[in-house]
Amino acid sequence: MSKPDAKAPPKAPMARLDRLLANLGYGSRREVTDLVARKQVMLDGVVVKDSGAKVAIAADLPTRLTVSGQPLDPPAPLTLLMHKPMDVVCSHREPGRSVYELLPHRWRARIPALSSIGRLDKDTTGLLLITDDGPFLHRVISPKSHVAKRYVATLDRPLRGDEAEVFGAGTLMLDGETDPLASALLEPCGPAEAALTITEGRYHQVRRMFAAVGNHVVSLHRDRIGGLALPADLEPGAWRILTPQEQAAIFA
Ligand code: URA
Repeated sequence: MSKPDAKAPPKAPMARLDRLLANLGYGSRREVTDLVARKQVMLDGVVVKDSGAKVAIAADLPTRLTVSGQPLDPPAPLTLLMHKPMDVVCSHREPGRSVYELLPHRWRARIPALSSIGRLDKDTTGLLLITDDGPFLHRVISPKSHVAKRYVATLDRPLRGDEAEVFGAGTLMLDGETDPLASALLEPCGPAEAALTITEGRYHQVRRMFAAVGNHVVSLHRDRIGGLALPADLEPGAWRILTPQEQAAIFA
């Protein structure tokens, strides 16, 4: 048996066209078979006749395969970077408008589903990652990865002056919890404004930390996850696909 060529690029996974389209939310298997029958699917400029044909899911597929004249949606794994605006929720289940409603409608039917990497509160803005890549999601949130998140908080009252020490001590216990918080870095940015870098993701953590030192968060914005900063040109509500370099920057 010949040895695999160590230099050869990894083979792209193959998928049946009808399954691929159904998993990207274009419709049920029957509906996508109908799309193919109506000559709406083209590969390299040629009408696809067999909805059961196998296609290689390579990075260039969206440039080669069109559905109703439009490039194919990006296949999984897909990770997005969003500037989360105010007043949208990160959960599929919570009532109210969700971040998923800011994405193309069809993407809500994708398998695997897209979900946010951690959550921001409804009234927190800033950098949010959304992915269908389970291993990547777990790598970002795993305590072993030490991915820090930075928040800028505007406060109701001026800083007392001892917050950096209290948050940095690694002993602060939040109400109702049994384990102290890991050490966090507080950097004052103004009399009632501070950047707080945390390595955990407990429920309402930043708001509860400031409550523990007698303050109240008026507005909260996440501007950094690991080494990845929220791009300055990304308006609230806007999103784009995360580049491989940005993905690597998270862990840098
Ligand atoms: N901590 C909070 O209190 N809220 C967020 O949205 C994120 C971190």
